[in-house]
Amino acid sequence: MSPVLVISRNAHVVGLVQQAWGPDGYAIAPEQFPDNVQALLIDLHGVPLPTVVVLDPEGQVTAALALAVDLDRNFHIASVLVTDRPAEVSLEAMRAGVRDIVTPDAPVDEMKRALERAASLSGPRVQQAQPGVPGVPGAATQRGKVVTVASPKGGVGKTTVSTNLAVGLAQRLPQSTVLVDLDIHFGDVASALNVTAEFTLPDMAHGPAAQDALALKSYLYLHQTGLYVVPGSESPAAADAVTSKDVVNLLDTLATQFKYVVVDTAPGLSEHTLAVLDQTDVLVLVTSLDVPGVRGLRKELDTLRDIGLMLESRSVVLNFMHPSRGISVTDVEASIGRKVDFQIPQSNSVPISVNQGIPLLQSGSRDPVAKTLRAIVDSIESEKVGNKGRRFLDFGHKKEATQ
Ligand SMILES: Nc1ncnc2c1ncn2[C@@H]1O[C@H](COP(=O)(O)OP(=O)(O)OP(=O)(O)O)[C@@H](O)[C@H]1O
Ligand SMILES: [Mg+2]
Repeated sequence: MSPVLVISRNAHVVGLVQQAWGPDGYAIAPEQFPDNVQALLIDLHGVPLPTVVVLDPEGQVTAALALAVDLDRNFHIASVLVTDRPAEVSLEAMRAGVRDIVTPDAPVDEMKRALERAASLSGPRVQQAQPGVPGVPGAATQRGKVVTVASPKGGVGKTTVSTNLAVGLAQRLPQSTVLVDLDIHFGDVASALNVTAEFTLPDMAHGPAAQDALALKSYLYLHQTGLYVVPGSESPAAADAVTSKDVVNLLDTLATQFKYVVVDTAPGLSEHTLAVLDQTDVLVLVTSLDVPGVRGLRKELDTLRDIGLMLESRSVVLNFMHPSRGISVTDVEASIGRKVDFQIPQSNSVPISVNQGIPLLQSGSRDPVAKTLRAIVDSIESEKVGNKGRRFLDFGHKKEATQ
């Protein structure tokens, strides 16, 4: 049977649902009744969304009905309301999309029938009427933007940049953004966001999540900033099972659900990264301010040009800017044969934020690093979605962010 969630502080109601539905269910008893799915996901701590939700709000009917609306309209999950005042709330409940009303003292059979009816109405609509971007009306018709952060070398700031860009975009438009850790073997997005998730990339690349957008969404981790996350694999061995085809499928599905799909990658041009690049709308190339890093970037740019990805339409971010490094921006630009678009200063605020698991843009830092990261977010945000015919968007014309 499909799982049923009971939100109730009443042990009798929880027992009633258990008897009616069997073991395939779970219960939460939050003090504050969640009034939207995002709040519910926080209470669920990574447990996937169910097929049916039983709402037993006692005094918090308004919150419960608001949650029923969100579940129904945006996630197509049916709800059953438990109340001892059915006559008073029935009209409002019906308008909120509640499928059935049951009193707390109802017999088990009545609860069972209500749950079965709700479950039968929950599934099929899910596949047909999947919304595009939750909370973003009208976005369903447009594919979201895939923003990929890459570099030829390791340790140059890809994860720092990708986590901050994703948080910055999510803060501006709640539920608009998902961050995918595609540093397949050694991803550390989860640590940079202080996330302990039940499900990671391999869980989402296979099984039910790989078949259906709604199922996938229930596996995503919802970060406190409103950012959805696909955390990297717990172990390199599990990651080996994720193929580049899986990666393409995953990004494809996420792009139908989110306005922005931000991707963190492993260093270099692995098979997985090339698959990601093929799906990418905005490429953010990061390099450190040192000779090996800059040379690596030049080779990567050459390679991308050779395989047909347009040279002039991507952004180059120079990280670890510091006057005493013995190499200037002009040197870098001469070496790579193109403009540097953004310069991120070297700053202790970065390792501090990484160690705390709180990205600078989450903490609202006014640090010069945060200022540059915000400028990159601005650039991504201001580009129009669906700019077909250009695989990468051109940051070359943007005003350069200063350190
Ligand atoms: N501008 C900066 N100033 C100071 N430290 C920085 C800066 N950017 C990144 N760092 C630090 O450099 C280290 C590497 O950064 P990060 O993990 O973002 O790089 P990466 O490219 O994702 O690395 P990997 O290739 O290993 O995944 C981290 O400890 C981070 O705190
Ligand atoms: Mg990294």
